[in-house]
This record gives sequence, structure tokens and C-alpha cells, in this order.
Amino acid sequence: MSTLIVPAPLDPHVHLRDLAWAHKGTFASETAAALAGGYWAVLDMPNTPPPTIDPAALETKLAALTAGAVCDWGVYFGASQDDNTACYPQVAGRVCGLKMYNNATTGTLLLADQPTREAHFRAWPAGRVIAVHAEDQTVADILALVRRYRKHTHFCHISMAEEIALLRAAKAEGLPVSVGVTPHHLFLTERDVITLGALGRMKPELKTAADQAALWDALADGTVDVVESDHAPHTLAEKENDPPPSGVPGLETTVPLLLTAVREGRLSLERAIALVATNPRRIFGLQAPPETYTEIDPDVSYVIARQALFTACGWSPFEGMRVWGRVRRVVVRGQTAFEDGQVRVAPGFGRNLFAEGV
Ligand code: NCD
Ligand code: ZN
Repeated sequence: MSTLIVPAPLDPHVHLRDLAWAHKGTFASETAAALAGGYWAVLDMPNTPPPTIDPAALETKLAALTAGAVCDWGVYFGASQDDNTACYPQVAGRVCGLKMYNNATTGTLLLADQPTREAHFRAWPAGRVIAVHAEDQTVADILALVRRYRKHTHFCHISMAEEIALLRAAKAEGLPVSVGVTPHHLFLTERDVITLGALGRMKPELKTAADQAALWDALADGTVDVVESDHAPHTLAEKENDPPPSGVPGLETTVPLLLTAVREGRLSLERAIALVATNPRRIFGLQAPPETYTEIDPDVSYVIARQALFTACGWSPFEGMRVWGRVRRVVVRGQTAFEDGQVRVAPGFGRNLFAEGV
């Protein structure tokens, strides 16, 4: 096959770190990882300290990203247990959406009770996405709010067969929902934790082979809209703690893993492109800028190795796996941003995709 061209791939779920967690990664290092992974743009989650839950923290993050990013970007605002809904009208136009953490994970953001979740659902302006971390029974709890408020809700990193069944039914009912799954839940199971140890620990945790099979079925039938990396770097030293922090990097391995599945006949090329580019752009209301695309050589294979990674954490749960599909070049707005293993643009090249208001 000749060169594969993918228009403007977007990863809508990354934790770029920086700020108080710059030792795990910086806006410059992790957006370089995004380019190396073939992405035009990324959407950054609000749980890194200081959490993006008030206008001052948002300004701090926007300024630092504006200075440091080498790919295009957007940021989520975070729903806080201490009611921060009063600032929603003021901030919504400058962010890609609201993130609600409804089950425990890294950081301090957790909405544990249904009345608090409902207050955030009610307050968030309808023009921007609500992205939710919801596992197990919490998926049903959130669907009850979607049914009441009819606001577009993206279910992040869905990992279980039962959750897929609930969301397939929600789509059949006509609810405004979209579904993301991660490459680690697609390509790893709980059995891999035996060998990976802490490097196989993330939220949601790796699941059974039956859950994994349900995710692949849902990829094929369109229940799943997006493959999102949930790129969440932690240092190797931190991963040696007991318990280790949850999260794994993924920006540089998602596209090659999916193209490997295409090569093995597990997924069509059309679906793969929809999952990493067309669908995430549609869900977040983004147009691909002119002359923005990624060139991939689908016939080059290589073994994932930590030495080759741009992410500052310097490891991958997929190390040692052979993948097909080498990212050759990322062109952003007519400019070569990445080519043959090198970032070709300076920090600050990346633009905020949500700077213009709702
Ligand atoms: C994420 C992190 O480390 O920020 N961790 C994870 O295990 N996925 C937080 C999250 O997305 O839940
Ligand atoms: Zn996440």
C-alpha cells in the first residue's frame, strides 16, 4: 500500500500534565508526543493540579499551553464538588467541554452523589460537550441525567460489556450520547497486569477477555464513536510506589495499534479513520483546518520501545509489541509540524481550538 493520508486526527482525551505536575510531562513534551503519534490536536483534561475548576486556573493553563504546545489543542473545564457552576457561562466559550469525574481516579475531582451531578448537568451551557468518567452502575446514573437534560454527553473510556449494552440501548433510544474506548482496554486485559504490574494499572482497570470482546464488537457496529488514548503519564519511579498512581501513556501508540488491527482484518480502515479523526472532530464541533493531515507508511512495522518515545515518562504498557504503520509526517495548517521522527515547529505553534466563544 502506498502512503496513507488521515485528515486531522484528534485525541479528545489526554492528560498533558505540566503546571504542578511538570515532572510527569510538560505541554511541550506531551504535545510533541501527540505529533509523534500522528495527531493534529489534543483535548486536555482538568484533573492535573491546580485543577481547572475556576477562571484563574483556566487562565494559568491557557497561558502555559499557548506558550508551550506544538500541536493544536483545547482544554476541558472541571466540575467541582465545591459548587463552581456560577462561572460556567463565563468559561464555557473558551473550553472544549465540561469534565465530570463520577468515580474515583487520579486527582481530587470527584462528584460522588447524584444531586451534585445533576446541578452540574443543569448549569452547563448546552452548546458544549459534557464528558463523563462513569463506570458500571454510574453509567446508568448519568444516562438518567442525559434523558432529563438532553445535553450531548461523551462517555469516556468505556471498558465493560454491561456498560456497552447500556450505551447501545441509549443510542437506540435516541439520547445524545457518544462513546469512547481506550487502546489499553482494546489490546490488553486483566491477565496482562500479571506481567505489567503497575504499568498495567489505570482507571478504569483492565477487564476480562469477554469485556474486551464486547468492546471490539461495539467498535465494529458503531456503538463506539471514538478511540481515545487517555494518555496519563506518571514517572517510572512513581509507578514503583504502593499503591502506584493510576494511568498509562498512549498518545504515540494508539494510531499504530489501530492500523495493526486493520492489517490483521479486525477493523476496517474506514472505521479506524472515523474513530481517531472524523468522529472526535464531529463530537466537539471542529472542522479540520485546511492542509491538515497525517501521512503514515502502513507497510513499515516496528516494535514499540521506550527509547523512541517523546513522552517525558519514557515508558509504554505496549512495549515489546510489534505494530504496523509508521507516522511519517504531520502537516498542520500547511506547515510540516513533524517529519521522520523530529518535531519541526517551535513551542507555541499549537493553537487553542476553542478561543472564539460558544
Ligand atoms: C488519569 C490520570 O492519571 O490523570 N488516570 C487514569 O488512570 N486514567 C485520570 C483519569 O482519566 O481517570
Ligand atoms: Zn483520563
